[in-house]
Amino acid sequence: MHQKFEFEYEVLEDSNQLSSEDQALMEAARKATETAFAPYSNFHVGAAARLSSGQIVIGSNQESTSFPVGICAERTLLNSVGSQFPTLTITTMAISYQPEGKHANEPISPCGMCRQSLLDYENRYGAPIKILLSGMTGKVMIIPSASILLPFGFDGAILK
Ligand code: THU
Repeated sequence: MHQKFEFEYEVLEDSNQLSSEDQALMEAARKATETAFAPYSNFHVGAAARLSSGQIVIGSNQESTSFPVGICAERTLLNSVGSQFPTLTITTMAISYQPEGKHANEPISPCGMCRQSLLDYENRYGAPIKILLSGMTGKVMIIPSASILLPFGFDGAILK
């Protein structure tokens, strides 16, 4: 038996085509790149989450002298929201980046470890987290649910 997995996402030419709420979230993610600590990769990533309360929370990558200890912007943000706002959910997360000395005009998409964490948070919330991906300028990819970025992801239900 053959099966197929596919998913749909939207691409906008520019963040000014987003709703004003999502545009503000993307601007917050772009601004959050300024808080990254990335002296080793010089790759500054910013993420911003809109919570069910409407509040925006930001995160950025924080690197370590012991390189694998460093953490991506997405998990900095998810774990910060999980600990500071345990009763709220994330409705949308925007992700952007600024590489030193280059212009970021294309979206990047979360690494595998962050995809697992995003899936964990979605399962915990029982509701999708919409993901907006963009550089400092240029097109925006809109992914309706983080779970589709990790097909066959481990959902933890088997641990219960
Ligand atoms: N990084 C993120 O923060 N998010 C991603 O989605 C990809 C990579 C960080 C990790 C490291 O600090 C730097 O970017 C280069 O990999």
